[in-house]
Amino acid sequence: MLMGSNGDALIRLEEVYKIYGPQPRGRAFDLAKAGLSKDEVQRRSDHVVGLNNLNFSVDGGEIFVIMGLSGSGKSTALRSVNKLLVTSYGKVWVDGVDVQTLQGRELQAFRREKMGMVFQHFALFPHRSVADNVAYGLKVQGVPRDERQRAAMEALELVGLGAYASNLPEECSGGMQQRVGLARALASDPDILLMDEAFSALDPLIRSQMQDEMLEIQSNLKKTILFITHDLNEALKIGDRVCIMKDGSIDQIGTAKQILTEPATAYVADFVQDVDQGRVIEVNEAMHEPTPIGREMSLSEALAAIGDRAGEFIVDDNGSPIGLLTLPDGLRVKSMGNDNLAAALRQDFEKTRPDASLSDVYVAAGRGMPIAVVDDGGQLIGTLDPRMIMEKLGEVERLMDDFERQVYL
Ligand SMILES: Nc1ncnc2c1ncn2[C@@H]1O[C@H](COP(=O)(O)OP(=O)(O)OP(=O)(O)O)[C@@H](O)[C@H]1O
Ligand SMILES: [Mg+2]
Repeated sequence: MLMGSNGDALIRLEEVYKIYGPQPRGRAFDLAKAGLSKDEVQRRSDHVVGLNNLNFSVDGGEIFVIMGLSGSGKSTALRSVNKLLVTSYGKVWVDGVDVQTLQGRELQAFRREKMGMVFQHFALFPHRSVADNVAYGLKVQGVPRDERQRAAMEALELVGLGAYASNLPEECSGGMQQRVGLARALASDPDILLMDEAFSALDPLIRSQMQDEMLEIQSNLKKTILFITHDLNEALKIGDRVCIMKDGSIDQIGTAKQILTEPATAYVADFVQDVDQGRVIEVNEAMHEPTPIGREMSLSEALAAIGDRAGEFIVDDNGSPIGLLTLPDGLRVKSMGNDNLAAALRQDFEKTRPDASLSDVYVAAGRGMPIAVVDDGGQLIGTLDPRMIMEKLGEVERLMDDFERQVYL
């Protein structure tokens, strides 16, 4: 067993290649290593490039999602981590252990102790109870009966199936069976969960519930999760970081926000172009410092204070916004010969929180008036000009357009 230094990363892949075919270290490997694309290698060597110089690391406690189209190498990457397959080149470190060098009993023990796996489709023993199914892995490990039943019950409680412990699998819905699978992986309390399209067979509503529940469980257990999906929305929702794979290589690794607002390649841009970027940009990134208007000001003075902004708020003694002066309102009242500030103020303004997303305020912004950004105490901490929302989203749009031009021109 070789030890490697790998910082905080619990899983690390370094320069990993996987070539499928009779000669995984032959010409196909040389071509891939020389930088040829998967298609090109296949055409010239009749070997399939599963992984093409894969490098990533997953930190302890992180949900790391690998996303990509069918055939991009997601399962191959995951299976290299528990050595369900043998890689052609490179290192796979798990908790400091060079996994690909493990054999036989040592490998089995390592997998059992460190990792739980959840697949899209997995077999449950039909004639054993849900609890026995969950406990089965522990039985194989020689854990005494009492102890494994306790662990199974705990795991079932975690996934909300405590009441079904003595039911048979056929008495469970698809979603519940998937939960049994998750409980089975959790029962041995592994540090790492490997989940390959674990929710993909579920219908959308159940799937979304499972995602929520997994995030809830994770907030308590803090496992290290390598999660695979071909669904971008699922990836963006549950991933602390998302890794986008294409043809056995990585196009980008980043937070949901980075992927959505700073796509690194035309391929990623194409993937995310239909997603609403506003949901990952917070109001506080688009608001400006409020410069409240004094209540004692005349309308002319207040208009001068607004300058070229769309409007400003006046606040009460607590600093809470109580009125909004917009430029058009002020100019209209003034043109009627009235210089009284109160006559031009409106109370029907929108409020939001600094951590709301731009999508949350998008409809409100459609009124074209500034939105008051208030903190927990209701105090004004920012003014959100609707034009800034468009400005922010426009930056992302421009980035996308640039990629599109690169691809098509
Ligand atoms: N046992 C195998 N023998 C030959 N080629 C394989 C084998 N397993 C995978 N491949 C090839 O390796 C590439 C990556 O496959 P992989 O199963 O990792 O993709 P994936 O991203 O998990 O796809 P999916 O979303 O369909 O599950 C594909 O081109 C596939 O055809
Ligand atoms: Mg797969």
